[in-house]
Order: sequence, then structure tokens, then C-alpha cells
Amino acid sequence: MAAGNLLVDNDAILESSKLTTKHRKALEHVKCREAEAQKQVERIRKLYATGKPMYPRSAMLDAARQIKLGSPKITIRGWDDDVQEYEYLMPHERKDSRQRWRPILYWEPFQNMVKECLLMGHTPRPLKICYHSDSPHGTPEPTATIEELKETFKMRASAWRETAMAHKLRSQLQAMSTLPTKIVGFGLGSPSHSMLYDDGTKDDAPVCGIFAQHAAVVMIAEILKQKNGKAPVVLCQDPAYTENDKELLESNGIMTIESPMGFLEVDQSSVVITVSPNVPVKQIIADDRDFWPAALICNKIYSAEHEAKMYKRRDAYFTDPNGDRVRNMVQEAYSHCLLPSSNEFGGLPIEVYTRKVNALI
Ligand SMILES: C[S@@+](CC[C@H](N)C(=O)[O-])C[C@H]1O[C@@H](n2cnc3c(N)ncnc32)[C@H](O)[C@@H]1O
Repeated sequence: MAAGNLLVDNDAILESSKLTTKHRKALEHVKCREAEAQKQVERIRKLYATGKPMYPRSAMLDAARQIKLGSPKITIRGWDDDVQEYEYLMPHERKDSRQRWRPILYWEPFQNMVKECLLMGHTPRPLKICYHSDSPHGTPEPTATIEELKETFKMRASAWRETAMAHKLRSQLQAMSTLPTKIVGFGLGSPSHSMLYDDGTKDDAPVCGIFAQHAAVVMIAEILKQKNGKAPVVLCQDPAYTENDKELLESNGIMTIESPMGFLEVDQSSVVITVSPNVPVKQIIADDRDFWPAALICNKIYSAEHEAKMYKRRDAYFTDPNGDRVRNMVQEAYSHCLLPSSNEFGGLPIEVYTRKVNALI
């Protein structure tokens, strides 16, 4: 999309004889910047088409290591080999310690890089650092005890396992011709936070699907154990997990893993499950074909044409948007099956993508 399509028609304005010299110069300057942004977009589109990973594992690992060590400066080698440096602390935090901010890794979806380029003239960077507050205003601390969590999980898991969605998922995975040995879940949410009403009081019958989504992980683990004769490695990554969540999940055979280490675990022997995550999981997974998973269970990946019709607003914002690499991955290497709808998965269409045997490396 041309920059001029997003902004005002500067050519038409420049043709107006009523413009003062000052305004004419300002507009010419804007036009130059638009042309520069357009060049940047063409450059990143070309880079994108080459398949060069936007989120290289080595860069993720290196950034995670620097964050863990508390390095005062965090450096990230960019997509086009420029090196970007970030401060560990947000500049204002050195003076004002009331609010705690910490650096976290941030993945920019390709669509957003294009928009940033056109609208703000920023140099596009897919992997960067942003700052997260550990004490967001107004988010109440969960109060459910570990016993309440375990009881709720048991109840909701057994209800979900009887749904048409669970039956279809089971049969799809049982029919897989590959034998995955690992499950990696992303952004399935915090069970204990889901037991709170917005005002912070406890919800004794939470309807949100966070319990069901983790129950799906447990069910997949059982299926893989039956198929392989050996229990799979089961990992889930969500920065929202509390200590009680970790204990609950562990008691159900799920190990929690810190962001971004889960992404480094995904490979041909893995089943990945993710539902409406706040990070572009599908783009991260599709980024490097050497690590495409054995199966992917996620929100349905529509064709670009279908999506354009569904979301007419050009600036519609998604945290886990699809893109050409995601679509190419599933078209080239996966069979897919739509699961019966379930409110527990946001009521959104969820599909199982299973790797075709002839598409394995
Ligand atoms: C919109 S919620 C969806 C939760 C749940 N899947 C559901 O359907 O209700 C998005 C989730 O993504 C999680 N998330 C944010 N950053 C993440 C990261 N780096 N890795 C994995 N999950 C992340 C959030 O903590 C949150 O639980």
C-alpha cells in the first residue's frame, strides 16, 4: 500500500496555488519522508520474501540471557544486521522508583513493521525490547487457593473432555502419522487470574476457557503417551502464570517455561497449542522452516482475501496476526481440520494443522 494512501494526498495540495512558500516547503519535506518510508517498506518486503528469519533463535536467546543477567545495556542484532541497544532500566525509573518496569522481549508482527515504517518513519525492527510494569494499576491479585484451583481444574477439565471439540481433537491427533514427543503451549492464560471478576472478587464458576485450554494440553499428553509408549515433555509459556498456577499445572504434568524459552523448544517433534495469545506466536513459529512443528492447534488461519473481507478496517489491530509466512507454512506443509466451536476457546474457530509426512525434513 502506498504511503499516500494512508496519509493525505500531498500532490493535490501542492498543486494548489494558494499555498505559502513555507507550507509548500513543509509539504515537500513530508513528500520526501513518504518516499523514504516507501523505499524502506520495499526493502523489508524483499527481505521478508527471502525467508530470512525475523526472530532468529540466537538473537532471542542472547537477549533473554542479557535480561536475566540484568545487563545495563541490552543489545540485539537486527534483521538487517544493525545492532540496536536498549537500556535495562527505563530512563525515568532511575529517579522514580514507585512503579517497577522491567525489560521484556517484544516481537513485532510483519504487518506492524510496515505500518510503523509508513506512518512514523521508524526503522523496522522485528525483535526489540519493551518495558513491562509488574504492578499494573487496577489488576487485583488472585485470591483462589491452590485447593480451589485444583478443584476447579478437575471439574472444568472433565466437562471439556466430553465436548465435541475434545472428541474431534483426540481423533485428529490419534490419526497423525508422526510421533511427536513434546507439547508446547503459548498464551493459554493464568487459571488463577481467570477466577476473578473484574472488580477483584472471586468467581466461583469461571466460564473463561483457560482451564479448558490447559485441559486440552493434558489430553494431548495422554494421546502422545499412548501413541509413543512414553510420556511427552509438556511445557507451557505464559508470563501471567502465578506461583499457584505453576503448582496447579505441575500437579497435572505441565512444566511452565519462561518467555521466550518456549519458542526455542518448538521443532519437528512438537505439538504447539495457542489460543488468542498477546504475542505473534504464529509468525514466530512460521519464521524458520527448520523448526516447523509436527502439529499446530490455533485460531483458524484464513486466506489473505478472506481476512481482508472479514476485517474491512485497514488499521484493525491483532496481537497474533497471520501473514504470508504463516499462510505459506500451512499451505505447503500441513493438512488441516476445523474443530467444533467451543465457548471455552473464545468461541472462535480453532483448527488443528498436522504436518504432512512428505513435508518433513
Ligand atoms: C488474550 S489472552 C488469551 C488467554 C487465553 N488463551 C484465552 O483464550 O482466554 C493472551 C495471553 O497471552 C499471554 N502472553 C503475553 N505475552 C506472552 C509471551 N511472551 N508468551 C506467551 N504468552 C504470552 C498473556 O499473558 C495472556 O495470558
